[in-house]
Amino acid sequence: MEKMGRNAIVGQSGGPTAVINSSLVGVFQAAKSRGAQHVYGMRYGVKGLLEEQVVDLSDTLRDNLDIEILKRTPASYLGSCRYKLPVPAEDPALYEKLFGILKKLDVGYFFYIGGNDSMDTISKLSDYACMTGSDIKFMGVPKTIDNDLMNTDHTPGYGSAAKYIGAIMKEITRDSLVYGTRNVTIVEVMGRNAGWLTGAAALAKAEDCEGVDMICLPEVAFDIDHFIERLDVLQRAKAGVVIAVSEGVRVHDGRYVCELTEELGPVDAFGHKTLTGAARFLANKAVRELGCKARAIELSTLQRCSSHMASRVDITEAFQVGGAAAKAAFEGHSGEMVGLRRLSNDPYQCTTELHDIHTIANFEKKVPGEWITPDGVGVTQEFLAYMRPLIQAELTPIYVDGLPRHIYIK
Ligand code: F6P
Repeated sequence: MEKMGRNAIVGQSGGPTAVINSSLVGVFQAAKSRGAQHVYGMRYGVKGLLEEQVVDLSDTLRDNLDIEILKRTPASYLGSCRYKLPVPAEDPALYEKLFGILKKLDVGYFFYIGGNDSMDTISKLSDYACMTGSDIKFMGVPKTIDNDLMNTDHTPGYGSAAKYIGAIMKEITRDSLVYGTRNVTIVEVMGRNAGWLTGAAALAKAEDCEGVDMICLPEVAFDIDHFIERLDVLQRAKAGVVIAVSEGVRVHDGRYVCELTEELGPVDAFGHKTLTGAARFLANKAVRELGCKARAIELSTLQRCSSHMASRVDITEAFQVGGAAAKAAFEGHSGEMVGLRRLSNDPYQCTTELHDIHTIANFEKKVPGEWITPDGVGVTQEFLAYMRPLIQAELTPIYVDGLPRHIYIK
């Protein structure tokens, strides 16, 4: 048996979030305190690792201030990738190369912060390690604004994105009512095939806000004619109609609404299309068929990098899952992902637990049908009660010269 590697390596993969760097700090600090000599960072995930693009995090994070700023810096500090590893039988040379690089770096602990596609990487690498008798421990650290990972109550990154959506919907609602005349605003929210984040639009409704008028989730087949009929009724009854629509809404035959007019660009390594344009398509249709004023707002990357209004609960949990992954790996676990288990809502309490990576990789968790209102365009009180604790409190950025301070690798 080979001698166990002394160092740790961590990568970030898939779409970023406002708090993914807090998980990076969690892994870094916990691995250091458990005796890792070096904690390396993969530049651009496993794709960069294959090109031996690594940094020693102790060289790039010089002091506690750097670490505090990193927690408040959006997007993936190390860079990211959407890279699908082949199965080992298809390309054994690639695995030999990768494990050779890890050996050269004397790595005993490997962490990957990502969503369901990234957990596929952990699953394949840990299986390969078992097959070849390698001692390297592979652990998944959850993250995604989509909140669609199995076996975790929620994913770090979701709470902050949900807080942003709730806040932005309140602001858009105020703006939509200024003239007191008829107008429609359709806001497109990320989340791919899961409506967790679009559902966060419901948070806008409060004693100081009327709330949005329709919430269209990808879990409900989208009927365009029905949508226009509903919109017609709404915009006759009130000025300032605001609608949240998921980027991933699909018509009955399975096509995304956003691909009805335009060819979407190339698919990524996991076969995902870049979803963009559903709001524009629907706003154009409203103008043509109802003759109303209609705007489309595509929140796009704004909703996943708004660290200036990150949820403190979210940023804290992102840190915790990173630390829990390091603890588990140093205690001998491998081929698992840290999940969050909610203990109670009031007071909100959550703990971490470990799950077999094979029950997570490549699966998508959808919004349960009973959390969607019977009319298909709203969410229930249960959904709201689930989201509310996750958006609580703030971690103020460190402001320099009037703007939040960030850190990046030069
Ligand atoms: O995976 C998170 C996510 O932000 C999705 O909500 C979105 O569809 C996708 O990433 C966009 O990916 P990319 O930035 O690679 O185009």
